[in-house]
This record gives sequence, structure tokens and C-alpha cells, in this order.
Amino acid sequence: NTAIAIAKEVGPAFKDGFWRTGRFSADSAFAADDKLGNGADCVTEVDRYIEKTVFSRLREIYPTHKLVGEETTTECGNEYKVTNDPTWIVDPVDGTNNFVHHFQYTGISIGLAINKEPVVGVVYLPILDELYTAAHGQGAFMNGQPLPIIRPPVLTTPTSLAECSMVCEHGSDRSEKVMGSRLASFTRLLLDKKHGGGCIQNLRVLGAACPDITLVAKGVAECYWEIGPHAWDFAAAVIILTESGGAVFDGAGWWGSSIPESERTLKPHNIWNRRLIAVRFIPDLPGKPGSGRELQKQLAKDVLEIVEDIPYPP
Ligand code: IPD
Repeated sequence: NTAIAIAKEVGPAFKDGFWRTGRFSADSAFAADDKLGNGADCVTEVDRYIEKTVFSRLREIYPTHKLVGEETTTECGNEYKVTNDPTWIVDPVDGTNNFVHHFQYTGISIGLAINKEPVVGVVYLPILDELYTAAHGQGAFMNGQPLPIIRPPVLTTPTSLAECSMVCEHGSDRSEKVMGSRLASFTRLLLDKKHGGGCIQNLRVLGAACPDITLVAKGVAECYWEIGPHAWDFAAAVIILTESGGAVFDGAGWWGSSIPESERTLKPHNIWNRRLIAVRFIPDLPGKPGSGRELQKQLAKDVLEIVEDIPYPP
């Protein structure tokens, strides 16, 4: 409830800034700054204002909790750690690139991790008027409606990548090694099976990681894959996804708040290792209890076999 109230409090500043922020021209009402010096990663006054406000509200209410935020971290030389302490992980504007281009797919992400496990998540997309919320063991919701929004029998059980829609990101690291690896992976995911590809039904690159993961939680995409997202890009969205019945994977295993603890093989500290596959809730096949979970694992394995799963940073 605290995270929801704070996200709603900063919503008007987000909406106002969305229509007034310019790109890189100094003539704009609020010009964006270029963080990496390559034009691809930007920050605006709105990012800074929202992060400051969210942090100050959280400090008032939970003075002993740790805070990790995208903009504060950047200002402090990019060092951050998710420890066992209760830690709020905040992206004031996820998809700043979309924000400065007035593309509505952007939002505020407020997550809480305890013992390194995501336990509370609020993703607010003010321009689309979508509020995603979840808390461990309490389900996930969009504007109060339980997730996934698309449910069986409309939500089907994909048995191969050819039936899957994937959201992914090209990210803002434009170095040859990282971009080469991402693009090679995109190619292989799309390529025909007879040429060694996964022939995935489609790939979407929409420019913001946390709304991507909420699409998976909603049931309108089967999976999300990215190399290089930061904790603040997915902390909140991951609990929203897993409370909707989805799971997250890397080469080392899988994790989900709705998966029995004894079956989780991805250790909590590995959730933050900046390579993530997220798979949506998959209904069991008729007469085959547990088959949905098996198919989630299989799809993640299929993706992992195809993509170049480089450690990040490389
Ligand atoms: C970025 C976006 C982008 C993703 C990057 C993120 P930001 O967030 O979510 O789609 O590829 O990994 O860092 O910097 O706009 O908050």
C-alpha cells in the first residue's frame, strides 16, 4: 500500500513531464542528459525528481531499510548491491528513451526485496493508466484485476517457441561485443528451424523492461529475455510476474514466488545477475497436472540454447 500510494503521488509529475520533456535540445522545457555519452541512455529532471521524492517518502516510513535507485546509483559511480536487508529498488522512469520520445510505454517501478528475494512490486504506467501490483503470496493485479488478464481457455499452452511471442530489449550498451551478441541471438531466435534457429513466432522490442515483464504477467507475451538489465528494471516486475504464476530463469535454474521453495533452483542472489528470462503462467495440459510448470522450464531451456547467454557485464 505504501508503494502504491507513493507511485500515485508522483504520477502527476510523470504525466506532466512526459508531455513537456524534450530530447537533447537545450531549447526544450526540460532537456534530457546523455548518461553514457552515446545518445542511447538518457536521464531527465523528471527521473531525478521522482527518485528523490520516492526515496524521501520511503525513508520517512522505513528509516532502517536500504534504498537502491537508478539515478542515485549512476551519480555514485554505478555501484550497487542487493543485500539481505530489506531493500527498496526503484526506477523512477523505466524507459526514459520512450519518455523523451513521448512513447507511452514507460513507467515507475518500485520493488522491495528481503533476503534478496523480490517480495513487493508496483509498476505504474501513468500514461497508459495501468497500475500493476503484487505482494508475496497475495497474487498479482492490474488495476485491481487478477493477473494473468488473459486466462484459460483463451490463454493456451504453448509447446514450442513457434507458438511464442517474446519481448526483448536491445539496451543502451552499444559496444560491439554486447550488441553483436544480442543481435546474433535475435537472429537465431527468429531464424527458420532448418537453419538452426528457434523460429519463434515474433520478437518485440518496445523500449522498457518493466512494462515488458508486465506483458508476460498479463498473458499477452509468452516470455521476456534480456542481457544487461539492472535490478531496478525488473525488481518490481519479477514479483508481479511470479505472483501471476510465471517464473524467471537463468542458466543456473528457476525462481518464482509461487513455485514451492524446495523446487526453486535459482538462488536468490542470482536473480540479480543481469541476465533474465521470464516465462508466463502456462496452464496444465488436460489430464497432466504439473505439465504447465514443465513447459515453462522447457521453453526457458529452448531460449537458453539459442541465445548467446553472455555473463553481464561481459
Ligand atoms: C532501460 C530500459 C531498456 C532496457 C535497459 C534499461 P531506463 O531502463 O528498460 O528497455 O533495455 O536495460 O536500463 O534506463 O530507461 O530506466
